[in-house]
Parts: sequence; C-alpha cells; structure tokens
Amino acid sequence: MAVQALGYLGIGATNLDDWSDFAIRQLGMQQVDRSASCRAFRMDDRRQRLIVDRELAQAERYFGWEVADAAALDTLAARLEAAGVAVRRETAALADQRCVGGLISFRDPSGNRLEAFHGPLVADEPFRPGRDISGFRTGVLGMGHVVLMVADFGPALAFYQNLLGFRVSDFIRQPITACFLHVNQRHHSLALFQHTRLGLHHLMMEMYSLDDVGQGYDLAQAERDRVAVSLGRHPNDYMTSFYMRTPSNFLVEYGWGAREVDDATWQPQEMSTIASFWGHDGLIRSVAGDAPPPPHPPAPPPAGRRAPVQVMEGNYQRLSGVCPWWDATAGR
Ligand SMILES: [Fe+2]
Repeated sequence: MAVQALGYLGIGATNLDDWSDFAIRQLGMQQVDRSASCRAFRMDDRRQRLIVDRELAQAERYFGWEVADAAALDTLAARLEAAGVAVRRETAALADQRCVGGLISFRDPSGNRLEAFHGPLVADEPFRPGRDISGFRTGVLGMGHVVLMVADFGPALAFYQNLLGFRVSDFIRQPITACFLHVNQRHHSLALFQHTRLGLHHLMMEMYSLDDVGQGYDLAQAERDRVAVSLGRHPNDYMTSFYMRTPSNFLVEYGWGAREVDDATWQPQEMSTIASFWGHDGLIRSVAGDAPPPPHPPAPPPAGRRAPVQVMEGNYQRLSGVCPWWDATAGR
C-alpha cells in the first residue's frame, strides 16, 4: 500500500478575493490563512486542505497525496527513483507551509506536480464552516477526488497504478477513454480522462447531507454562470452532485451519497456510458470543451437505471411499507 488518500490541493491564482468568497460562502470552507500572496482553507480537523497561492503560475497545481508515515514516504521515494522518476526531498520549511511532517515532490508523466506527504497537522480549534452545512465527508477517505485530463493515457495509468498503488474501480473505452481509481474506500480519489486539453477538470468534495448539496445548488443557481453541470446522479459512484465553475479554470463537483468500494470483493467493471442515471446536463460539454461533436453521437443509455441510496447511520429513517403491490415487488 502506498498512497492512502488525497490530502490537499494547491492551485495558482491571482484572484484571491474571488477564491475567498467562493470557498467560504458557496462551498462552506473555513479560511484560516490570509496573506498578501496566499489563502488557505479548512474543511475538517486538518489545518488546511485547499491552498490558493498567487506566487504559483496560474495553471500550476500541486496534488498532496498522503502516505502512512515517514517510512512509507521513504519506500515510495525509492520505488519512484528505481523507476527513473526524479524525486525531490522537500525542506522542513516547505513541510511547515504544507502543515505536514515531511514531503517529497515529483511529476507524473503528464507533468502534474505531485507531492507525497506524511504527518498532516490537525488544528487546535474545531472546524467552523463558512456557511451552515453539516460538514464534509473526509477522514480516511481524504478530501475528495480529482479528475485529470491527460494526453498519454497508458503511461499515466501505469504510473498511478504501478508506482503509487492506485487500484481500478471502473473504466470506459467508448465513447471516451477514462479510468476511475481508488486508494481507500472512496470509489475514486482520482480519475484519468484521455484528452487533448490537459490539466484538472474538477475537484470533488462530498457532503454529509443531501440538503447541504441542495442548498449549495440554490446558492449557485442564484449566480450567473456559476452552475456548469446540473444536479444529477452518477452511475458508477452513485454520487448525487452538481458542478460549479470556480474562480479558476476548473470545476468543483459538490455531492452526496457516494458508494464505497471494498478491495476484498470489488471487481473492476467496464462502463458502456458515462451518462448519468438522470441530470448532469452539461457534463459531456464540460469535458468536450470546444471540440466539435462526434459524427455519430453515442446512443442514449437505457432508461430505468437506478441504484439504492448510500446512507450512513443517523442519516436516514426507514419507511414502512404501505402498499401490498410494492411489498410484493420489493420482496421479489
Ligand atoms: Fe467527479
């Protein structure tokens, strides 16, 4: 086991005030650091999860992947170096900035800056959300998932699987090439999409309550052009979510109710469509960008696809059966 979770995300941006407003008022994060050049935000007990840095180039991002401890970090560094990947042992000063015990940095085959770290610092104060939400589902699942568009799909997939220890959840070969990968029970902490437009497509954050998502949807709809993809439900991780444009050129998916995977029993599955059970209007457009539509549009997915909602204790109440016809149907 190498990487265990997505720990943090850093982005380069100059519009720091726009980011503060979006992260606090829309997403419900807590701003903890505000300097002339940098903003940092919490979403749980960790000191920081999202960092927006004016001194980074606009398109530059860094992805913080968590490992168990210092020994695991050394093992990972050695494995990367044995495979010919240039690894940098970062300074204590950078570890302080990242609020971790230690870190290394390296690039994936697409040039994305990755950081692997151990020993994340926990805040002294409880998390205080920026708006009234129940909270973000993080913990051992990490801060969420990221979806990267890559040109060289095969080498990128091999890198994340063979060197960093990601496992395939499911994949699709038509009409696009994509793979969803997990490192813990979260259905995917990373997805790779083969694409000519490179970089981060979206960051997903999962809420404890469907109502957090619905109220976020109301807020986003009140703003012109904030919603990029309408509310919908994904067929692979079962997440009910919508996507927002951020102050930078990637999206945030805001969702609830994703399923978990169990490595003991999980079998990777090939998907025949990325179309959602319902909704998510704009998702295909957000991936395709300005590319011309395919000459033969894919067939619509079959109707009537559905799956049980994924809930946790304290998050649901059982209803009684009320109709003999339904009881008989459910019994079958
Ligand atoms: Fe997603």
